[in-house]
Amino acid sequence: MTPDMASLVESDRVAGSLYTDPALFEQEMDRIFHRTWVWVAHESEIAKAGDFKTAWVGRRPVIVTRDRRGGINVLLNRCRHRGASVCETPKGNGNGFTCPYHAWSYALDGTLRGIPYPEGYEDVVEKKDLPLLKLRAGTYAGMIFASFDPDIEPLEDFLGGARLWIDRFMKQGAGYPIKVQGEHRFRFNGNWKIQLENTTDWYHFPIVHRSWMSSVDAETASMLSIMTDETAVTHALGNGHSVSISVAEHADLDVDDGTEKLQDRFGHIAEELSKDMPPEKVRRIVRSLHGAGFNLNLFPNVAMSMAFFRVLRPLSVGETEIRHVALGLDGGPEIVNRERLRIHEHFQGPFGFGSPDDAEAWNRVQRGVAGGAEMPILVNRGLGREKPNDLGQATSHATDETGMREAYAMWKRMMTDAE
Ligand code: FES
Ligand code: FE
Repeated sequence: MTPDMASLVESDRVAGSLYTDPALFEQEMDRIFHRTWVWVAHESEIAKAGDFKTAWVGRRPVIVTRDRRGGINVLLNRCRHRGASVCETPKGNGNGFTCPYHAWSYALDGTLRGIPYPEGYEDVVEKKDLPLLKLRAGTYAGMIFASFDPDIEPLEDFLGGARLWIDRFMKQGAGYPIKVQGEHRFRFNGNWKIQLENTTDWYHFPIVHRSWMSSVDAETASMLSIMTDETAVTHALGNGHSVSISVAEHADLDVDDGTEKLQDRFGHIAEELSKDMPPEKVRRIVRSLHGAGFNLNLFPNVAMSMAFFRVLRPLSVGETEIRHVALGLDGGPEIVNRERLRIHEHFQGPFGFGSPDDAEAWNRVQRGVAGGAEMPILVNRGLGREKPNDLGQATSHATDETGMREAYAMWKRMMTDAE
């Protein structure tokens, strides 16, 4: 039986079955992941002609390529003959893809190039009719998105109010473009929306991340003060997107203030850089080590958080893969990129002080909800203190659940529009 979608999401709560109902999960793949823009890569991952990486749109495997003319292609990773995946290498560089089953071969733009022993195909197959299925692809500020819907709205419209924040996020390169330095993946036993909620959930931070805070003395006080800091706010950006600003003085990288703590903390790096850089540039680069000062949630599958991307892939109603992508400065000083990786590992790494604690909390949400799926999940924190900002966006304190309400409003729109 199809549940009544509209009744599952209210302004202050969502049904527990959103995490546990396998039929709903199938509908989410169809109505959300296969119809909207889904993040698949950053341009630095396929910088050169011939570069490719594999990714997922919902549960469908895709290949993101840079073809010989410099074009970006997102191709369904499924042979047009009898369906085998044509590429299982996560990343690489090559001329195209050869299916392992009967060796049909495809160019980087998906064109079917060759069929071995073609005699049996005379008058049956025209190669030009059987390219790898090509998704709609779009880029914004180096972020590559794809959609199975050929008639989808332009990417810029979909990103809407989030574009300002994407632009700001990219400024953390201190004049250098942002590049992907590496990634690690892990899975947790929970629904994908538990992670979606988490990106703008500063309420959990001083609780779940207490061990991390006690490991970084200089940061402890500032992160605890988020509970009472009035400049820490969340804006609902429309279309399910939201941004939570944790350190307001770092949120706008054009403004050079409030960075003294960082200059002290990374004094050893400043000293090294000062050997062949002017003081202003050193200051900007040191400031960039902290990342962006905010978490941006792009519905449905990517977060741009401080100095990394967090990408989610739904595997089943109760299992999700997370990919943590560490960002560096393309062409920037080696010492800075190394330090960024160390900071990343300290929190996000598999043995870090942050992510394993998040994953434990998410597993427990799934276990708890499974034991009482008929009870609602509350997303009402701060409902009474939400106000419009200058742009008319709902705004509240960063520890409030404004971002979750925005994501669930979009969820509801997409799930019911398709009915
Ligand atoms: Fe790919 Fe046969 S399934 S060539
Ligand atoms: Fe967390």
